[in-house]
Amino acid sequence: MTRIVEKRLSLHKDLANQQQQNNALKSQFTHLQALANIGTTTCMVAHEINNLLTPLTNFAALALNNPDDKPLSEKALQKVVRNCKHASKIMESMLAVANDQTQEKQNSSLITLVENVFNCLCRDFAKDSITVNIQIPDDLTIWAVSVQIQQVLMNLILNARDAMLPRGGVLTIKAGDTIDVVQIEITDTGCGIEPENLKDIFQPFFTTKAKGKSPSQHSGSGLGLLFVKRIIDEHGGCVSVESKPANGTTFKITLPKPH
Ligand SMILES: Nc1ncnc2c1ncn2[C@@H]1O[C@H](COP(=O)(O)OP(=O)(O)OP(=O)(O)O)[C@@H](O)[C@H]1O
Ligand SMILES: [Mg+2]
Repeated sequence: MTRIVEKRLSLHKDLANQQQQNNALKSQFTHLQALANIGTTTCMVAHEINNLLTPLTNFAALALNNPDDKPLSEKALQKVVRNCKHASKIMESMLAVANDQTQEKQNSSLITLVENVFNCLCRDFAKDSITVNIQIPDDLTIWAVSVQIQQVLMNLILNARDAMLPRGGVLTIKAGDTIDVVQIEITDTGCGIEPENLKDIFQPFFTTKAKGKSPSQHSGSGLGLLFVKRIIDEHGGCVSVESKPANGTTFKITLPKPH
């Protein structure tokens, strides 16, 4: 009898110890998760700010190299100011994500968001023999955190451009809606994605844009599509891709409408 009681006591003790260890592991896990979140947010901010800094440097250089061309310098400086403002909005929005703050969604005109993205990019697509074809109804609105959807559009447009360099091609941005959803399609006639890579393109750090592969291609960090997916998921939408190597790629985004 005494042995049974002793065994029971020892089992209780073991259980209490396990419970303690479990709680310690749980709190360690929460702490590590918070650190991982900070890591992802830092990468995200750096990546997105870099998308805006490249054209910003080009605008500033244009203004410096043409001090006598007043209208040109003025235009370049206006673009610098616009990109700086946009960069600080992106930063604010990402810090809010990191702090778990809910960000206000609002009705935004999709065509205006697309135009803003093109305004932030420096190099005229026509200079790279890329024709841009936009088919978005003027009155089409989306229910979204606008700065985040601009990030999505910018990443998809930059990927489409990279895929068409140096040959050029056609970039088509189409959108339409049903009673429940808004659909956006971004299509390029670029190099396409190899079937074996399709499953990896939304994974962090997956890139085929190796350093120095070709002078017309910049090196990638493999983060753009990860952020695209995250943002669209956070909006309750979905993103899918269809691609044919050597023919081109279409990214499709579906965003729910508010009830
Ligand atoms: N439109 C496209 N056409 C062809 N390949 C694409 C296209 N979009 C994405 N990819 C492929 O998916 C990979 C991942 O894209 P992602 O945007 O995540 O990273 P990245 O463009 O390589 O680098 P970055 O972090 O600068 O965006 C690309 O390296 C490329 O191989
Ligand atoms: Mg990219």
